Amino acid sequence: MAGKWWQQAVIYQIYPKSFQDSNHDGIGDIQGIIQRLEHIADLGINTIWLNPIYTSPQVDNGYDVSDYTAIDPVFGTMTDVEQLIQAAHDRGIRVIFDFVLNHTSNQHIWFQKALEEPASDYHDYYVWQETPGGGKPNNWGSFFGGSVWEYVPSLGKSYFHLFAKEMPDLNWQNPQVREEMFQIAAFWAGKGVDGFRLDAFIHIAKADFSKQMSGEETYPIAEPYYANLPAVKVYLSEWIGRLKAHFPELFFLGEAASADATLAEEYCDPEADLCDAVISFRYFPEKEPTIRADLPKQFLPKSLDWQAFKKTMAQWQQADIYPVLYWNNHDLPRAISRFGDTGKWRERSQMMLAGLMYLQRGLPLLYYGEEIAMQQLVMLEITAFQEEAARDFLREGQEKGYDEQQLLEWASLTSKDASRGAMQWENTDYAGFSETAPWSGVNQEPDFTAASQQNRVTAFYRQLLKLKQTELFIAGNWEMIDTGELPLFGYRRKTKRQDAIVLANHSAETIEYSASLAEASILLANTADFQIKRDHIIVPPFGMIVFKTKGVEK
Ligand code: BGC
Repeated sequence: MAGKWWQQAVIYQIYPKSFQDSNHDGIGDIQGIIQRLEHIADLGINTIWLNPIYTSPQVDNGYDVSDYTAIDPVFGTMTDVEQLIQAAHDRGIRVIFDFVLNHTSNQHIWFQKALEEPASDYHDYYVWQETPGGGKPNNWGSFFGGSVWEYVPSLGKSYFHLFAKEMPDLNWQNPQVREEMFQIAAFWAGKGVDGFRLDAFIHIAKADFSKQMSGEETYPIAEPYYANLPAVKVYLSEWIGRLKAHFPELFFLGEAASADATLAEEYCDPEADLCDAVISFRYFPEKEPTIRADLPKQFLPKSLDWQAFKKTMAQWQQADIYPVLYWNNHDLPRAISRFGDTGKWRERSQMMLAGLMYLQRGLPLLYYGEEIAMQQLVMLEITAFQEEAARDFLREGQEKGYDEQQLLEWASLTSKDASRGAMQWENTDYAGFSETAPWSGVNQEPDFTAASQQNRVTAFYRQLLKLKQTELFIAGNWEMIDTGELPLFGYRRKTKRQDAIVLANHSAETIEYSASLAEASILLANTADFQIKRDHIIVPPFGMIVFKTKGVEK
């Protein structure tokens, strides 16, 4: 199985604040990750991705970087990081760092200088418009609410921020910025980092500021003017090209939130020096909220539109790229709470989701905790939510007379804050994460810890990832199996020599599916409750099964 190393990668995303606290301040840290590398290696993981650990005022949990080449003391020291890279490499695990290239913190020395010395080179590191009197150059909205423009009265100018106002956007038109970003990435590659997850890279180019979005809203999201503009690829390929010239093995995993499969093909064009793979947020088409309430839909539970999801997966599987296979990350509610079952079928539905997704063609990307069927945090107070939009939802709901417990339950099921809970290691205080209350809160669930799931969901993940590492599931073709209206997701993987079928029941119903698989051997199943007859299979609730089918009549 030749190819690039990352084509055989199985990535495990660690949210460092929530993984393991070694110094008992309630916040996870680098030494904590080192302590837990064995758990990761045991699973069959060969690559980890860490959310940002650079020095940061933590306005956006580290995505507001104030020093790119220093480690935030809350996580440890440079020596700790060097030790982590070494310890991971010793176990055959590669390390991917988050790379925040669209913006810095307003506490970064560049921005401080940009403010204090407007005549200095640093001023042009950021995106400014003359706005005497504080008017807005346009109506474009920030992803974190309000305008993208923040007025600085002492300068008579406004700077651009796509995210929080404490996170000013960098000016990638400026060659000095591009040079700085090259130096920073080269610094980390020199330390042995194997790749970068490129945070929000699709936003590094902006349109002409005279353009206005139409519509009712005061500050609408203005994607056409600040996402996926042609210059993104120009800047990116210069940057990646230079890095690859020095570090040919570096892996670039782009976060392309709004990319469909066609755009992903452009961002992963092997002829250009662009991304190797991209993470899109367009995988999961949801139905209208299951609850009728005059409240922002974002925080009302919704189910997956499975028929639309099948079509989306087929597009990504058939695209000329190496798709990223994931259900979870720190910006999304955990899939088990979102689309699975957190009651009777919790373990089984977690295994079903994993089997369905990761045996497809592409790069599995797991999020810490899914291997123990960790669910969304149960958040009991409005103040537990960091995300402003979630707080607004809760306040609005209260004003409209909704029951507070009900509102908290909805927000817990849907918010990104609740997906960042402390890892549940064992059945002790704070789930073995820390000796102090975790910053995030923690679910105390004796049956859902790394210790108690060793021979259950975790064991299934081990088998699954082992199977995923075989030639058929790395290199085989992918073909959707038409299961009509049945709540069954099915596909076939095929090489010249081998052939397998994956079937996953994504409902709590028992399904009868017509297929002649009695002669086929079972490679993996998440339950023994399947009944395989001569011409049909009885698929139990949330059952997932993989058959080796070469030579079997279909
Ligand atoms: C990260 C978010 C972050 C944002 C700004 C993203 O896409 O995943 O967590 O808030 O970029 O850096």
